[in-house]
Amino acid sequence: MFPKNYWYVAAWDWEVRRQELFRRTICNVPIVFWRREGGVPAALEDRCCHRHVPLSGGKLRGDHVECPYHGLTYDCTGACVRVPSQKVIPDAARVRSFPVVERHHWIWVWMGDPALADPALIEDYHWNDDPDWRFKGERLALPGNYLLLVDNLLDLTHLQFVHLTTLGTAAITQFPIKVEREGHKVRVTRWIMDSPAPPFFQKAGGFAPDEPIDRWQIIEFTPPGFVRLDVGGARAGTGAREGDRSQGFTMRNLNVATPETDSTTHYFWGQAHDFGIHDRSITEMLFSQVHTAFLEDLTIIGAQQSNIDAFGADLPAAVDFNQDSGGMQARRIVDQIIEAERAKA
Ligand code: FES
Ligand SMILES: [Fe+2]
Repeated sequence: MFPKNYWYVAAWDWEVRRQELFRRTICNVPIVFWRREGGVPAALEDRCCHRHVPLSGGKLRGDHVECPYHGLTYDCTGACVRVPSQKVIPDAARVRSFPVVERHHWIWVWMGDPALADPALIEDYHWNDDPDWRFKGERLALPGNYLLLVDNLLDLTHLQFVHLTTLGTAAITQFPIKVEREGHKVRVTRWIMDSPAPPFFQKAGGFAPDEPIDRWQIIEFTPPGFVRLDVGGARAGTGAREGDRSQGFTMRNLNVATPETDSTTHYFWGQAHDFGIHDRSITEMLFSQVHTAFLEDLTIIGAQQSNIDAFGADLPAAVDFNQDSGGMQARRIVDQIIEAERAKA
């Protein structure tokens, strides 16, 4: 079960190309995406109403999709507009269509009631196309449930064990987190004061290996799977915690966990920065450092998911610690949304 009345990131804009049919499963539903002649994206359930063949294996005829089996043709609303073997098209000859919007270099799809699909509800990821920032991102195929990734991003104590060669230092777990909730938003803040910079920060901020810095991790979650991190560091004692970041550097680590199935996730993420924006090598370096770290997350979350599957119905309840308060709030919010949607249905 996933929240339905939400915009989900389905693809990077460059993944859906003009003359191609593109299949991607979102929240257990196979969907075919394409671009109309003017470039505007469209999305239908990837299933012919006749004998359930995937439409993504068919052909684009102008703005219409032709099934590869017996040639039924559909328009962007999902209505069948041609049955090669007969003139009359029954009303039932249609498939589900999905509202789609292209924004922030992503193709967003609405998985719930189309009447509620207001583009103003799309989450803010403006850093992906803000002229004052640069970013690079990718999609990773995560072999785990999307909430395992949300847990992971809201509890950064794992940095010191999983990412010791990139993002971690031994100091992180010594500094407590503050967890705040406003409506459906959860914010987890940690300041790591007067401590050595991790390898990635030495590279990004030009800090010497033994130079103490004040480092921040401000993580915001919104449902179903959006996690934006404001991270950076400044020379220790220069007032970053009070709001003066002039002696440091700031990045945004922008994550989207889109459920593919119950146990797999499309992990869209990008690293954005507002310094050195005319030097492409900085964007590449920041991306490749975080990419290396995120592959480590994929390995650990994949192992976690297969262990959860191996224990199956005998899996005992997980034990929570203080470090999990952000993730617990996020799961509570998602549960409440699913419950409320179910009650209305
Ligand atoms: S299955 Fe699509 S036309 Fe028959
Ligand atoms: Fe991680």
